[in-house]
Amino acid sequence: MRIVVLGVAAAARIALAASTLTTTFKAVIVTLSVGLFCMGSACAQSELPTTTRKVILEKSPGNGYRWKLVQTALPQVRDHQVLVRVHAVSLNHGDLEMLKRDDGRDLTGLIVASDAAGEVVALGKDAKGIRSGERITSLYFQDWVDGPASAEKLAGALGGPLDGVLGDYIVLDDTAIAPMPEGLSYEEGATLPTAALTAWMASIGQRAIGKGDTVVVQGTGGVSVFALQFAAIAGARVIVTSSSDDKLARALALGASAGINYKTLPAWSNRVLELSNGHGADLIVDVGGRNTLDQSVKSLAYGGTLSVVGGLSGYDGNIPALGLLLKTATARGIYVGSRADYLRMTAFVRTHRVRPVIDRVFPLERYGEALEHMASGAFVGKIVLRLAD
Ligand SMILES: NC(=O)c1ccc[n+]([C@@H]2O[C@H](COP(=O)([O-])OP(=O)(O)OC[C@H]3O[C@@H](n4cnc5c(N)ncnc54)[C@H](OP(=O)(O)O)[C@@H]3O)[C@@H](O)[C@H]2O)c1
Repeated sequence: MRIVVLGVAAAARIALAASTLTTTFKAVIVTLSVGLFCMGSACAQSELPTTTRKVILEKSPGNGYRWKLVQTALPQVRDHQVLVRVHAVSLNHGDLEMLKRDDGRDLTGLIVASDAAGEVVALGKDAKGIRSGERITSLYFQDWVDGPASAEKLAGALGGPLDGVLGDYIVLDDTAIAPMPEGLSYEEGATLPTAALTAWMASIGQRAIGKGDTVVVQGTGGVSVFALQFAAIAGARVIVTSSSDDKLARALALGASAGINYKTLPAWSNRVLELSNGHGADLIVDVGGRNTLDQSVKSLAYGGTLSVVGGLSGYDGNIPALGLLLKTATARGIYVGSRADYLRMTAFVRTHRVRPVIDRVFPLERYGEALEHMASGAFVGKIVLRLAD
């Protein structure tokens, strides 16, 4: 589909606008059924629908929220926005956390999910840096374009507090999208915005890691598998912790050097020290949170870095300050990343032909099953929804 949209208007406004245009210009204007108008020979190839499916939150009779699939009018594209036909959306652990959210705000009607891949089918008149028909992914933060984080840059996260991406057609600001790396399918592209960028920022995106370094990643979920792939490509020796020996075997096949079952070996830091000949981990990607921070700090090498990423066992765990101090180590909070970071990460993905690890793909109608699969923990890598081929 190749569409260049000049503006958005109701049918009456389009008629009025068209009547004031020159004859030459009118010749390439085609009115679409949704009231958008466009220019270009390919414009007539496909008309946009007037409605779209989307998945929104509604209050659950108990606590928290439940999701609901609804059909609504196609969203209007504002000047700096694009209309995206979504082909795939990936799930994140945060999607489960949103269903339990209770921070005083009413999330009723919010479109769920943060990570989409699709094609741009319409452009607002001031949308910059994007071509119609381009394959893109969404970005987690719509206003964090570059530079260090700030309250303003972190205020606009897709999927909460802003509308998310789980719909056939969505509108996104031109700052909330980036080109999808060539060579990836839409399903693969949809895994990148949150999990891959977080893994990048928690590993080689912010600290030079290479041959001779030891990296620990926890579990075999979305963020951790990307961190494993990135660190292994950089030449590091990667140790993976997991609840399951089968998953550890999978992690070894994906490039890990060693695995530790944290269920059978709760004091796994001793094993990290053994495996690294007493040196410890130069970098640890902590997604466990409350129950893992103590073991993480005990695993650190002198001068090591603890990337504080997740809260699978609860956020706000205690980081043993003395443990950091005695090893002159650094603890660093990670909150996804900026668009500029994303572009550096996708360049790495392209150069090193990183293939995202997808556990299962579900059709949109089976979103509930996909969430259950995520909650079960019986997966490695990412879970993806397919909305269109
Ligand atoms: N700060 C950020 O920017 C950011 C961004 C994305 C995600 N997150 C957070 O990071 C965490 C991971 O997210 P995700 O999307 O990668 O999750 P995920 O794909 O659902 O991965 C979960 C996996 O982690 C492992 N796990 C579960 N509980 C654990 C525990 N208590 N200790 C260690 N490992 C455990 C399990 O793998 P095994 O069975 O192999 O152990 C599980 O399958 C979540 O808390 C999420 O909210 C933070």
